[in-house]
Amino acid sequence: MPGPTATPTPTSGDHLEIKDSRTGKSYTVPITDDTIRTADLRQIKVKDDDFGMMGYDPAFMNTASCRSAITYIDGDKGILRYRGYPIDQLAEKASFLEVAWLLRHGELPTQGQYDEFTHDITYHTYVHENIKQFMEGFRYDAHPMAMMTAGVAALSSFYPTAKNIHDPRERDIAFIRLLAKMPTIAAFAYRHVKGMPYVYPDNALSYPDNFLSMIARMSESRYEANPIYSRAIDVLFILHADHEQNCSTSAVRAVGSSHVDPYSAVAAGIAALYGPLHGGANEAVLRMLQEIGDVKNIPAFIEAVKSGKGESKLMGFGHRVYKSYDPRAKIVKGLCDEVLKVSGATQDMDIALELERIALSDEYFIKRKLYPNVDFYTGLIYRAMKFPTDYFTVLFAIARTAGWMAQWEEMLLDKEQKIARPRQIYTGPGERIYKSSLDYKHKISV
Ligand code: SDX
Repeated sequence: MPGPTATPTPTSGDHLEIKDSRTGKSYTVPITDDTIRTADLRQIKVKDDDFGMMGYDPAFMNTASCRSAITYIDGDKGILRYRGYPIDQLAEKASFLEVAWLLRHGELPTQGQYDEFTHDITYHTYVHENIKQFMEGFRYDAHPMAMMTAGVAALSSFYPTAKNIHDPRERDIAFIRLLAKMPTIAAFAYRHVKGMPYVYPDNALSYPDNFLSMIARMSESRYEANPIYSRAIDVLFILHADHEQNCSTSAVRAVGSSHVDPYSAVAAGIAALYGPLHGGANEAVLRMLQEIGDVKNIPAFIEAVKSGKGESKLMGFGHRVYKSYDPRAKIVKGLCDEVLKVSGATQDMDIALELERIALSDEYFIKRKLYPNVDFYTGLIYRAMKFPTDYFTVLFAIARTAGWMAQWEEMLLDKEQKIARPRQIYTGPGERIYKSSLDYKHKISV
């Protein structure tokens, strides 16, 4: 995994020598940052009028789509850093808004920058009243991620100037509006499903406290969040803020590369995060633990996973990049202990701990380097805080908005980037003459 580089490292002379057995020709392809540009393969042809060679990489398992200075991951060593700062230090000492600033700007904010940023976020938490009516259009049992996807996409219609994506001031206000309004839309979705009146933002509260207030306040004049829950939310938002080129961030970058407004690009990211293999995994973990039901059922469940019968995966385990313990999972596990001390331990935690113990000693998982990822324990915390299971991914989406927006802007300002438009290997039929077997008596020939 090439280390973090701000600009292409000129590797003078490093190159690949490629010999094409079909033609006997040799080619020299330069190496930069331990990668080659697949565009350099296009020179490799059999006939002069050939398109030229491409790389083939389904699911981009071994393809760098961009150069990025935001997040660095070493999957083998279990390293995660935001702009060079180790995730455990940020989780322990920073706030989510400070991390959101860091992800975008590349440096920690000064006190003045932080105070102004916090003020701006606080005073942009309200949403247009029409959003409430928009929410009313959903069924009582609508999945909140569907509501988030639609709600955030709708924001683009309230801020038409957001299309001026090359204006830094428009990017600034979009960054503030999305970070500020995601919790509000999320809370409105929660209250709509619960059939409870919406709670408006309380500008006297911190970011996490205000979110918990919009979720839980009833008739009291000011909601007092449990400080352990408030801190847990802020730490979980930090841990979920960014993760380099994951599925949803890649979606934001690809959609954003068409130069659509950032609200529409982030809505695409929310849709990608919804999937059970990605952000939806924390919800799937809880359903898996509930399906197991008791520690004594774990061995049979593990055997079913290994044999591919029934539940084909151990949700919350495995990762495309981490082939060791996800560093975030370690932090979440510790946080889980703290929260459960307040909320009361749950049987799900006992099952999760035993499931992890057994899996980590089982050859099937060891051989495939499957370890707990960030989602394995996260759901237990959200459940302990009484969030509904299908709401967990909404919490992930609020946090990941910081990373999506930072990555979106980095893509936009990257001179190497253009509209994302991959090629394909065509496997369909060759040319053939249209001859329909349908009887179009009514068809008007033009
Ligand atoms: C997130 O990319 C990111 O950074 C994502 C994320 C972020 O912050 O944005 O970190 C957040 O999405 C975390 C991942 C949450 N998803 C889950 O917990 C769902 C369960 N995990 C798997 O679906 C899977 O591990 C993935 C999707 C996470 C990774 O899949 P890969 O890299 O494509 O690996 P694979 O599916 O090719 O698996 C390799 C082998 C296969 O077995 P064989 O075919 O070789 O016999 O491992 C097996 C898989 O069947 N395997 C699992 C497994 N994950 C992979 N077997 C059982 N349980 C699992 N969880």
